[in-house]
Amino acid sequence: MRIVKIFDTTLRDGEQSPGASMNVAEKLRLAEQLARLGVDIIEAGFAIASPGDFEAIKTIGNEVEGPVICSLARAKEEDIKRAWESLKDAPRRRIHTFHSTSDIHLKYQFRISREEALKRSVDMVRFAKSFVDDVEFSPMDATRTDIGYLCEVIEAVIEAGAVTVNIPDTVGYSIPGEFGAMIKTLRDRVKNIDKAVISVHCHNDLGLSTSNSLSAVLNGAGQVECTVNGIGERAGNCSMEEVVMALRTRRDLFNADTNINTEEIMRSSRLVTKITGMSVQPNKAIVGANAFAHESGIHQDGLLKEKSTYEIIRPETIGLHKTKFVLGKHSGRHAFRTRLDELGYTLSDEEVNSAFYRFKKLADQKKEIYDEDIEALVSEEFTTAPEIYSLTGLSVSSGTDQKPAATLKLKVNGELIEKTGHGDGPVDAVFRAITLITGAKSRLLRYEVKAITGGTDALGEVVCSLEEGDRSVSGHGADTDIIIASAKAYINALNKLAARKK
Ligand code: KIV
Ligand code: ZN
Repeated sequence: MRIVKIFDTTLRDGEQSPGASMNVAEKLRLAEQLARLGVDIIEAGFAIASPGDFEAIKTIGNEVEGPVICSLARAKEEDIKRAWESLKDAPRRRIHTFHSTSDIHLKYQFRISREEALKRSVDMVRFAKSFVDDVEFSPMDATRTDIGYLCEVIEAVIEAGAVTVNIPDTVGYSIPGEFGAMIKTLRDRVKNIDKAVISVHCHNDLGLSTSNSLSAVLNGAGQVECTVNGIGERAGNCSMEEVVMALRTRRDLFNADTNINTEEIMRSSRLVTKITGMSVQPNKAIVGANAFAHESGIHQDGLLKEKSTYEIIRPETIGLHKTKFVLGKHSGRHAFRTRLDELGYTLSDEEVNSAFYRFKKLADQKKEIYDEDIEALVSEEFTTAPEIYSLTGLSVSSGTDQKPAATLKLKVNGELIEKTGHGDGPVDAVFRAITLITGAKSRLLRYEVKAITGGTDALGEVVCSLEEGDRSVSGHGADTDIIIASAKAYINALNKLAARKK
């Protein structure tokens, strides 16, 4: 059985989704989970794009074991040098360089000829090769590139040393039959194609990114670039869980599989949602809340008799286990730590102490603590930013015959400030009080609240995305009181914005 490599670009293309930007600690946490998931390559960022990206690639390269760590670079010397600097301590490293090849891009964006684009691509592959053996090249907008010219570019970059040639459907324009045929043409016409792995990178503008990637695999692609939950630029990228589970479920047809440990899919999906603040639609394939919910009586009847009647994937295969009651008020630190280990969290003593303190507070409010509650508590450890603002007190009044008001106490750089805000509802009043204290000028992009488990005593989890200038961030807060959770989420987002401004 052929193994198709999974090249995960959640940290790079995924991060290009509006509001999905992540800080270094969050990227590291996610990269560790991607390693547990078993991806072959992690594209950790675009080194020249920002100091934060650079630092994230460096940290991930130093700390995450297993996958090859990849840094993206335009076909420019300064980009490639920066990519190399971000990778030089990583034991397994790859430089991914790219240049547009379609006439539309060359004429209107770069204003250069095909010959010049070819020369830059070849020169920069050679330049990248002077730093690392593992060089990947992407002809951007490949699917709108003249096929004869594309073959010429691919042949030349392989000759220059590229060991992976990635074919991006940058604007999500292609359709499966056509894209598969394109891969076949490259295999038939490019003389040295057997010296490189053919990769594909499909965007989802027409909702076809997974189908296009699978069609490419059927035609010989050996690497698929994808993101967890399909996040990414515009309508997103090919979704990792869809392509992996299609290959696994239909091995009979593809005669191909991946190295992915599918039981880690659900946890990876939840982590991406938590960190980026981008929820998954309920009917999303594989990881949506309804993906395994059978509503029709006829289906339920069949399932009770024999699961395979209506279930093509066992939920356990993707790590979806029935929520079980795990811990309670009397559970000790040891039991808590053991459960964290079982859930795959490796925390320092300090982090365990802080999560345990919050666990005890929660256990006072909530009788039964589920895995999802623990994950929410722990995720606070990873989504925090240096605290300029910290919540020290909140009281809210609202009702049918009074204007909602919130009196909030915030420590700002150590100084305690108290203000009262009024609003259309209690959350609005809280946000206004926070704005009065902080003077925040950010725009609220998204506010979402959901119950983590069932029951009226469930932890409420709030995600709040803010935008200021060209920066956007998502903050999180979890509490049994959704108003407090909202305040925490807003403050967390403001702390992240402040950290990014620095
Ligand atoms: O979509 C695209 O073309 C890209 C390239 C950088 C591979 O993301
Ligand atoms: Zn892309």
